[in-house]
Amino acid sequence: MANVAMLGTGFIGDFYTYSLHGKRNRDRVVAVWSRDEERGKAFARKHGIPKWTTSMEKAIGDSSVDLVVIALPNHLHKEAVLQSVRAGKGVLCTKPLGRNANEALIMLEAVEKAGVFHGYLEDLVYTPKTLKALDAVKNGAVGKVIWARSRETHPGPHSDWFWTKEISGGGVLLDMGCHCIEIARNYIGKDIRPVEVLCWADTLVKPIEAEDNALGYVRYENGAVGQFEVSWSFRGGMDLRDEVMGTEGTIWVNNFLRTGFEIFTAAGKQGYVAEKAESEKGWIFPVGDEVVELGYTDMFHDMFTAWEGNFSCRETFYDGYVVNEIMDACYRSAQSKKWEPVTLHSWRGKEKAEPILSLEEYDANYWLIKKETMPDGSKKLILKEKKSGTIVQKIV
Ligand SMILES: NC(=O)c1ccc[n+]([C@@H]2O[C@H](COP(=O)([O-])OP(=O)(O)OC[C@H]3O[C@@H](n4cnc5c(N)ncnc54)[C@H](O)[C@@H]3O)[C@@H](O)[C@H]2O)c1
Repeated sequence: MANVAMLGTGFIGDFYTYSLHGKRNRDRVVAVWSRDEERGKAFARKHGIPKWTTSMEKAIGDSSVDLVVIALPNHLHKEAVLQSVRAGKGVLCTKPLGRNANEALIMLEAVEKAGVFHGYLEDLVYTPKTLKALDAVKNGAVGKVIWARSRETHPGPHSDWFWTKEISGGGVLLDMGCHCIEIARNYIGKDIRPVEVLCWADTLVKPIEAEDNALGYVRYENGAVGQFEVSWSFRGGMDLRDEVMGTEGTIWVNNFLRTGFEIFTAAGKQGYVAEKAESEKGWIFPVGDEVVELGYTDMFHDMFTAWEGNFSCRETFYDGYVVNEIMDACYRSAQSKKWEPVTLHSWRGKEKAEPILSLEEYDANYWLIKKETMPDGSKKLILKEKKSGTIVQKIV
């Protein structure tokens, strides 16, 4: 059982607390920190939390607290992590870990030096569909992963600070690209080194300094590519979709919008529909149990189980740091309009990754490239002669 200090009473603090308390869950938020006394008190009352305070130090240092959950704007992550480390508390931090890789590295080094438990709260690699899909990949169901595409788009975030670059550290690339990059990394293999990136990012619609749309490719050492597509100006709700292409199979995941639950309402009395839903009337696309479907429940389950068992959880500060390094390279690429290397301060995966290319033997003389049944029912084989390298076709 974990006793938690929740730092932040905004959107994600609320979701995290609903998920943590769950349905008769044994883990509890025992203290909450808010800048504002009244908001802290209201949050505590709503969630049945015994203590609230406007002192971050007090919330973290409370003797009943085992773990600190950081649900604060990006510019406060580093300070909250360092305070938790000073108090010797385990710490779970929301995404993105840092506003840049430099901040993330300071946080990573601090938790590791102090030997405190740490988790990177990347919920979207814990959605029930993603967990099942990752198992399929692990079991070899799709062969070797060649390409993983992840898309997160919505009409833009809900608070002023996201739109203010000094506080947030960046625009949609940082805010949502971090999810997509870590999803692709999970599918391709977290032990495969990300080598270089190519990224386009632009401010197309909103009057802000940071980018509101971005696309990018992350090339991994074995040749696989992670592709991300993010937008703060997409209309119609929140679109969370992933695709995995492997040598032996394909996975399509739709996590949120139009997943098979649709209501038509002329009266518009549904109330809250789902995160970033744009309409309350007409056809609407609610979500059954949002904290489960967005991965929060499985994420905390993994993290608290790891904390209790004294082992590492699936997503650690090291993962958050790698994602920040990839995003820093993306920002460099968006400027230079060229492939830019990912510079990792420390690499903990494979030193040499096996290339994806696999040779399937047809017979002693030929490699098989592919076979296909033609409209007349014949089978066509495309073969490569081993000695000469000549490509030929055979109809059988
Ligand atoms: N799916 C996810 O994992 C997910 C979703 C949303 C947000 N987040 C992350 O959670 C963090 C918080 O986002 P949010 O959506 O809860 O934001 P929010 O604006 O809804 O809430 C922010 C909270 O921090 C408090 N705060 C303290 N100091 C502040 C300051 N100087 N400026 C502004 N607010 C201050 C606010 O009062 C509020 O309680 C961010 O890092 C964001 O990236 C993660």
